[in-house]
Amino acid sequence: MTMEKLKSSFGVYVHWPFCAAKCPYCDFNSHVRTAIDEDGWVDGILAELDWLAENQGASAAAGATNGSARPIVETIFFGGGTPSLMSGKSVGRILQKIAALWPMANDPEITLEANPASVDAARFADYRAAWVNRVSLGVQALNDADLKKLGRLHDVAEAEAALNMAMGIFSRVSLDLIYARPDQSDAAWREELKHALAFGTDHLSLYQLTIEPETPYALLHRTGRLRIPDEDLAAGLYETTQELTQAAGLPAYEISNHARPGQESRHNLIYWRYGDYAGAGPGAHGRLNLNGRRTATAAIRLPERWRDAVSKGGHGFGEVTPIGDDEGSREHLLMNLRLAEGIDLAAYEKRWGAGLDGGKVAALAKQGFVACEDGRLTATPSGRLLLNRVIEELLI
Ligand SMILES: C[S@@+](CC[C@H](N)C(=O)[O-])C[C@H]1O[C@@H](n2cnc3c(N)ncnc32)[C@H](O)[C@@H]1O
Ligand code: SF4
Repeated sequence: MTMEKLKSSFGVYVHWPFCAAKCPYCDFNSHVRTAIDEDGWVDGILAELDWLAENQGASAAAGATNGSARPIVETIFFGGGTPSLMSGKSVGRILQKIAALWPMANDPEITLEANPASVDAARFADYRAAWVNRVSLGVQALNDADLKKLGRLHDVAEAEAALNMAMGIFSRVSLDLIYARPDQSDAAWREELKHALAFGTDHLSLYQLTIEPETPYALLHRTGRLRIPDEDLAAGLYETTQELTQAAGLPAYEISNHARPGQESRHNLIYWRYGDYAGAGPGAHGRLNLNGRRTATAAIRLPERWRDAVSKGGHGFGEVTPIGDDEGSREHLLMNLRLAEGIDLAAYEKRWGAGLDGGKVAALAKQGFVACEDGRLTATPSGRLLLNRVIEELLI
């Protein structure tokens, strides 16, 4: 896959907002409901995809270089919530709709996020039959006591069984782990990460625990009942993560994402390379050309409100906002600097009509936060940990 091809890639994100239980650390748009009218929710997503393609049509026709009125879909990602609560039939309905609305690449990457509960794993073969070719499994921990503390419904044995089943069905499997968990030592994380690497998946997402406001974990933390690693230990855990993944041949290509070269998530690379993607479903975000302008879309988060809006107006986007150059150039920088490959300075200047301030770049380089080589600016590991501050310095 050449960089040029990925730059012009177009992806579709589908958000399934339901979970079997709410994890106490999570602030994703995920909701627990006793009964779900699955066909009805899928109908809403299909309507929203129709709306997106229709409004993209005019601009895409004007700008198309591939002889087609609409951009070619290179990647599709079912995220959540828990998309593995969907039936294979629902996943298939959505994929067929996308293929009817947009031309598809020869080799699209189609990922589905799955929870490792055995009931979810039982659907893997149906997802494969529906066209899904990559699974991202939310393992979170390889330690039963910690899985309990994280409020997870699976144990280590179930996670291992789901992983083996996924690897038997899909050629591309990723797993998610959360580290810097309450009371976690460096030695314990080292063992756990070695265990995870031993499964032999070509992609790992390794997230440092974030205490998100308004979650049960935030309350426990505020009242001293949840002790998370201090800054020094957390920095050490990050170093351990880099050391072990690098040694296993899966270096970080993004702050929290590690892959064997060539096995990076093509879908997530579209976000980080600041490409175009459509987002459908409650709470989904998109960045794409609509009616001739690069536009940010954000769907209403609460599923029932989203569904009312879709039935009244054909879509549930609470926000459809053209992106100005200031915001666009800032987002572009923020996204690109998350990546180990960094930002192509000439391409950035060409796109926004102005480059970065050389003096500011030099000052940050002197402090060890960024490095500049062959026309690309990258954030160093310490710069990546303070990315928002680095961006402020570069843009103010
Ligand atoms: C949308 S979530 C969900 C996938 C799936 N529902 C699951 O939980 O397995 C994507 C990933 O974000 C990570 N995550 C969620 N909340 C987090 C937090 N507060 N801190 C760090 N990572 C978090 C988890 O690793 C999770 O797998
Ligand atoms: S299952 Fe995943 S999305 Fe749902 S609450 Fe837990 S971490 Fe969040």
